[in-house]
Amino acid sequence: MCGIVGFTGNRNASSVLLDGLKKLEYRGYDSAGIAVSGEQGIQMDKTCGAINKLVEKTNDGATLEGKAGIGHTRWATHGAPTDENAHPHLNKDESFAIVHNGIIENYSQLREELREFGYEFQSETDTEVIVHLLDHYYTGDFRIAVMKTIARLEGSYALGVLCAEHPGEIYAVRENAPLILGVGVEENYFASDVTALVANTKNVIYLEDGQFAHITADDISVFNAVGSQVEANITRIAWDIEAAEKGGYDHFMLKEIIEQPNAIKATIEPRIQNDEIVLDDLAFGANELKKINKIVITACGSAYYAGCQGKYIIEELCKIPVEMDLASELRYRNPLIDENTLLIAVSQSGETADTIAAMKECKARGATVLSIVNVVGSTIAKLSDYVIYTWAGPEIAVATTKGYTTQVATIDLLAVYMAKQLETISDERYVELIHSIRQMPALVQRSIDLNTNIHEVAKQYAQKDSIFFIGRYSDYAVSLEGSLKLKEISYIHSEAYPAGELKHGTIALIEDERLVIALACHERLFDKMMSNIKEVKARGACVLGVALEDNREIFKEADHVIAVPNIDPLFVPIAEIIPLQLFSYYVALENGCDIDKPKNLAKSVTVE
Ligand code: AGP
Repeated sequence: MCGIVGFTGNRNASSVLLDGLKKLEYRGYDSAGIAVSGEQGIQMDKTCGAINKLVEKTNDGATLEGKAGIGHTRWATHGAPTDENAHPHLNKDESFAIVHNGIIENYSQLREELREFGYEFQSETDTEVIVHLLDHYYTGDFRIAVMKTIARLEGSYALGVLCAEHPGEIYAVRENAPLILGVGVEENYFASDVTALVANTKNVIYLEDGQFAHITADDISVFNAVGSQVEANITRIAWDIEAAEKGGYDHFMLKEIIEQPNAIKATIEPRIQNDEIVLDDLAFGANELKKINKIVITACGSAYYAGCQGKYIIEELCKIPVEMDLASELRYRNPLIDENTLLIAVSQSGETADTIAAMKECKARGATVLSIVNVVGSTIAKLSDYVIYTWAGPEIAVATTKGYTTQVATIDLLAVYMAKQLETISDERYVELIHSIRQMPALVQRSIDLNTNIHEVAKQYAQKDSIFFIGRYSDYAVSLEGSLKLKEISYIHSEAYPAGELKHGTIALIEDERLVIALACHERLFDKMMSNIKEVKARGACVLGVALEDNREIFKEADHVIAVPNIDPLFVPIAEIIPLQLFSYYVALENGCDIDKPKNLAKSVTVE
């Protein structure tokens, strides 16, 4: 996701825009730019890198003269973070400038159409098609040009538009991407969220999808998709600036947990087109896959645990053996990897040193490398033969949540895609699996909604000094991630074990009041899990059961039960991890921990 801002009033726009962009930096920070309109037409400056680089480059905005303007801070999705790909984008004669947050899904078709009209493109972005459409449709009426342009767009877009022949005027457009208008005194604004407005005004207008607004220093007019003016209701923001940055949540981690349905939607929806899985420009199909006799998944931490659940689904659907290999181990072994190996590297940051080193080791041995990454243009992305981006948007909290679940969703998409290519699943099963994947955002939301009492449960266990997680099959993979979440933000010792391993030693540690969190969401293994629960209960443990929402049996043994929505067994992890994230969050909250920045940790471990 990116951040956009706009301003029009009776003072120089650029410093207001830069201040607004600084407040949106958490939404994306790989490049930034501003454009203003005034007597000298449109002036623009943009740069790769953080917003402070733009501040320096424009001498805090002093180099640009104009009382209306738009600004953008980028989280790259299409095209690496470069000066050319940064927003704003201008048309050839610099009569229009636009900033965009979202994804134009039909940009390839529009690009070809515009090329036939003689338009040339300066960037790799999907966004640039918009400014050339405005040029194409403009015959003197700013609003008509905007309406004709947005009628051609498919996908998600929050837009800010300047026109040189209309200095002081801005159009703001909202479709499937947040956009809020700010109402000032002889000046008005727009922004991706209140963070960038609340320093100037607390009076805002929430644009709705399909609406657009015409903004001048003295007036804001809102229109629906057919150009009819509609009521613009002003809301007063109760938040202060600090709270606003976190969208009203106390911590970025909680905000990012709650954001997961939308993050997962952004990951999967553009990749299911006409009931087919389309993995971007992944030119890796049946011919390449049929040469693969082994898949190795390598990563670190939570990314590794996302890979662990992937082992089950890939082997189940694609009938190719999958080895899990911690990057910090793989790089120092003499791995049996060759040109028939597909290496899947998983990483949120795309900069983890151990993962990079492991990839280089495997490339040198002839492996094909596919990476699943959240940062466009990152080192891991550049090292890979193929990349699938998770499009989770920037993740600020050190402990990953939406980074992990969008990795899981991407691996699930990849597994079904590969099985289709390999013809190891029937057409009917393919349709079923796509339907289940489409349900993921709603089921993750249901997983949040089913567990509104999780804070109360966490309070009861927040003082434990050691907590065990147990599970079987992919429940075990989820228990690894659940245990790590708890450790890294609450500092409580925790271990995850395959439930069948308990009797081989660990059960010696079970004593009165020891908390065991038993993940039992696979019905075919439920009886086995109930036996494990009885084993630990018999030795005094208290048990927090995690089971599908219509499971009543678990209540016979568990002291508390966490419900997970009913979901295809292959996709249990993406819904099951949600309450465990919330449990860890509230345990850490009860213990007064620094949740977003836990001690000793870094968001990206770029050293060995
Ligand atoms: C996740 O909560 C941790 N912060 C950590 O385990 C992380 O997943 C690991 O360092 C890998 O990072 P990456 O995904 O950026 O490669």
